[in-house]
Amino acid sequence: MNRSFVWIALISAVAAALVVLFAPRRERAGPSADAASEELAKLWDAPQFEFASQAGRALRHDELRGQVWIANFIFTQCTSICPTMTAKMVQLQRSLNAPQLRFVSFSVDPQNDTPAVLASYAREWSPAETRWWLLSTDGENLLRVAKGFGVTVQPTDDPADPILHSNRFFLVDPRGLIRGAYISDDDEAMERLVSDTNRLLAQEFANSVGPRADLSGEQLFLAMGCAGCHNNPRLGPPLEGVLGRAVKLADGGEVRADEAYLRESIVDPWARIVDGYRGTMPSYAQLLSDEQLGRVIDHLKSLEPSAVEGANPTLTFDPVCEMEITVFDDSPSAEHEGVRFWFCCDHCQEKFLADPAKYAKARKQ
Ligand code: HEC
Repeated sequence: MNRSFVWIALISAVAAALVVLFAPRRERAGPSADAASEELAKLWDAPQFEFASQAGRALRHDELRGQVWIANFIFTQCTSICPTMTAKMVQLQRSLNAPQLRFVSFSVDPQNDTPAVLASYAREWSPAETRWWLLSTDGENLLRVAKGFGVTVQPTDDPADPILHSNRFFLVDPRGLIRGAYISDDDEAMERLVSDTNRLLAQEFANSVGPRADLSGEQLFLAMGCAGCHNNPRLGPPLEGVLGRAVKLADGGEVRADEAYLRESIVDPWARIVDGYRGTMPSYAQLLSDEQLGRVIDHLKSLEPSAVEGANPTLTFDPVCEMEITVFDDSPSAEHEGVRFWFCCDHCQEKFLADPAKYAKARKQ
């Protein structure tokens, strides 16, 4: 055989092997990640934009490439739907603490919402949140972006409600594709947004934390977002010492947390709901192999009971943002005419205190 032909064949083989070995992870993971995300709709491409953020810096849509993001439209002087939407935005930020996630609020009020105004709004609502972009817009591009999301923004003559705009949240994937639209005053839709986001994060980033097969139970617990909810008793029951615990259920029953119960809680979380909580936990049946599930369960079994026991959560309604919330002894609350009201956050408590009769009445209806 011709010698140079052998060399060419050899060099091409080595080159091909190098391409396979060193190709960017995302490309190699592409087809399987796509197959796994089939359940979430692929709606349409999110619009392009460049707006100043609350930090005064210009932010472009392509800085969100590679991240999962949740978008909505607000304005800071709005007293109709925005406080509720922002309260829900803050709840989302607390339930979803993946670092790869971004939250984007487009202001629909170019006149008023300067970066400085948005910065103080962000400080008031969610001071510790670093993943939230509040964008000040300009009239023309605002309309284009709103149209790109399929929503209308319309000034009105009503001083109490000067700008009509959508109350939807949108979920966008790392390629800029919109994967879901969720009406913010529909509790079920908001729960779906949390579980869809967790699913999308798991699908998109499972490959980036290294070969999944190598992760320990503890690493899986962090990588799958379990810690995000379960390290905050308002979002999920604390799991320290869960093995063998007598668990009170929402339907009044009780169950001893054995290994089978732990497994069921992860693959079919709605089968039995823990008292004081709602069914916000997504199922991990599709996301964890049997072996990984076993490792996560071993990790749960190894968690020692914590010193702080006796958390006593109950469910109630926040009369201001009207969300169902889990409350504890130290949750923000206020008394009005002998009735105690509980709030999701200090902001709702303050609003209530400014006009208790209004909210207390709304609650009774
Ligand atoms: C979005 C928040 C959220 C995430 C993420 C989440 N959970 Fe949960 N989890 C909950 C809530 C709320 C409950 C209580 C309601 C219920 O029973 O479904 C719960 C219940 C449980 C229980 C039963 C606890 C008890 O006291 O009886 C176990 C075990 C559990 N989760 C494990 C996990 C594991 C493991 C993961 C990750 C693979 C995970 N959870 C992810 C919110 C979450």
